[in-house]
Amino acid sequence: MSIKKISKTQPEKFEFTPENFSEAENEIEKYPKEKKASAILALLHLVQKQNNNWIPLAGVKFVAKFLNVPYIKVYEIVTFYSMFNLSPVGKYFVQVCTTTPCMIRGANKLTDVCKKYISPKENELSENKLCSWTEVECLGACVNAPMMQINQDYFEDLDENKTTEIIKQLLNDKFPEPGSARNRKNNAPEEGKTTLLELEVKNA
Ligand code: FES
Repeated sequence: MSIKKISKTQPEKFEFTPENFSEAENEIEKYPKEKKASAILALLHLVQKQNNNWIPLAGVKFVAKFLNVPYIKVYEIVTFYSMFNLSPVGKYFVQVCTTTPCMIRGANKLTDVCKKYISPKENELSENKLCSWTEVECLGACVNAPMMQINQDYFEDLDENKTTEIIKQLLNDKFPEPGSARNRKNNAPEEGKTTLLELEVKNA
């Protein structure tokens, strides 16, 4: 299970760039005037994007003030969802799914590789500062378990060797090819389709 770590080093201030300010205004306009709080998630994503993929506490305060909602309301949200990072992450941010389907297919081997090559503890930067890793709950790709997400891409059908290869590439500042490590197309059976075969004929 992932542990939320709030950075000990925090900037004193946060405010949106003019571009993000108008982006935030656009988000707010999507909701009725008395429901501005509905834009909390969208604004937190903007803060994270602006601040190198992590949200400082000043950013949480800023969003609360911007939407005129209590600080605790934004704090509860930001500490609940695993997609929000509360401390700096690497240029390559590895999120290993350790929920049951991935766990029974060997997710612990993936976290062992992360511990060995990135950092013994999750949410810490690698020695060369390029990578960090964390455990997360189900990423919705259980049929391709075990899997991990790196930045915006999914890496699936992994084993210890393939994960080692991927992590070594990241540590050398190279982004590996995402997708199935066993060359499955999305989540299709490895031996080819077993159903909806008539569609294949029509589309051929
Ligand atoms: S359990 Fe890992 S993706 Fe769903």
